[in-house]
Amino acid sequence: MQKYILILSVFSFYLYADSALLQQALKEKLRPIPSSKTQLLHLVDDPENPLTQAKIDLGKMLYFDPRLSKSNLISCNTCHNLAMGGVDGVGAAVGHRWQPNPQHLHSPTVYNAAFYIFQFWDGRSLHLSDQAKGPLQAPFEMGSTPDEIEQKLASIEGYRTYFDAAFGMDTPITFENTAQAIAAFEKTLVTRSRFDDFLEGNIDALTQKEKEGLRVFLKKRCSNCHQDVAMGGMMKYFVMKKFTYKDIGTFSGNANNLVKVPTLRNITKTAPYFHNGSVWDLKEAVLEMARIQLKLKITDEEAQSIVDFLHALEGDIPQMSYPMLPR
Ligand code: HEC
Ligand code: HEC
Repeated sequence: MQKYILILSVFSFYLYADSALLQQALKEKLRPIPSSKTQLLHLVDDPENPLTQAKIDLGKMLYFDPRLSKSNLISCNTCHNLAMGGVDGVGAAVGHRWQPNPQHLHSPTVYNAAFYIFQFWDGRSLHLSDQAKGPLQAPFEMGSTPDEIEQKLASIEGYRTYFDAAFGMDTPITFENTAQAIAAFEKTLVTRSRFDDFLEGNIDALTQKEKEGLRVFLKKRCSNCHQDVAMGGMMKYFVMKKFTYKDIGTFSGNANNLVKVPTLRNITKTAPYFHNGSVWDLKEAVLEMARIQLKLKITDEEAQSIVDFLHALEGDIPQMSYPMLPR
């Protein structure tokens, strides 16, 4: 009898500890990607550029279409490869005329960017549709001008029906609409993970090791900055002063030296890390973070435990077929 009571109380202790952990995660402003489609739409939709299937379909073609670049060789997918975690896997992004990014900036992932309030490493853009206009024109990325893009798209007869379906019959094919359609497609690039099941109340969705890692993550206060749905994208913070690799590239944040807090979703798949892609090992990135952001010396085991937890943020990548591009 006593034995059973002991087992029962150990069991309920774990149950209690796990639901306390869940409560704490929610208290620290970690939020799930909702399993409910309606709630998800509520999070990502924008009344100024409402999501429609026609816009998403068009945006997908444009995202993959290298003809939006001056050379006809580079698409959004070149640097944000959807089959590679939404990144390119190189330190500094390589664009038009194979130029490396002049500030040695690393391509961040496009997955879950729909949840950010700030886009770009310095957070200078507030909307995906505004963001998309940057790379289309940047001389070291796709190197086009708005006029060139409008003329090229208008010359591809097959695009007409898709623009009509997305924006209304005979609406001119504009740079603005091009960016809005791309943004609509990007809003479908969200990746639910086991951690979201956990946050929605399924405390068995994480392994004991991952729960242990989440405890360390919360205890060390990583969630001070890596919070909300994307575990990033919501604030900017100082990094540069003490950053070990600050001399790689010339980026020093925005005018106040602040850098956007990047997402931790799918972080195990988006090496190399940091704005200049200077660190390839995730545990090293975690140790660097503890040192420069939290002035904490954490042990190797604690860093490993956090990395174990970060694996639970590997999401389900939306399955899609490669679009046939209009001619
Ligand atoms: C040559 C490589 C390259 C191409 C091509 C490219 N990007 Fe990027 N992208 C980058 C880099 C580098 C950054 C970071 C730049 C910065 O912060 O100034 C970035 C930033 C972004 C961000 C912000 C994400 C964040 O975490 O802040 C989004 C979204 C994005 N790109 C989408 C796109 C779309 C859509 C296209 C096509 C229209 C595109 N990119 C084309 C390299 C590229
Ligand atoms: C004070 C705010 C803050 C805190 C606290 C913080 N971070 Fe960060 N984190 C940032 C910023 C800002 C960056 C981007 C730095 C850069 O690239 O220059 C970043 C980048 C990262 C990256 C690299 C992401 C990428 O895509 O390149 C990882 C991994 C990371 N943080 C993990 C952690 C962990 C784990 C903790 C807790 C030990 C933590 N962070 C605590 C603000 C913070």
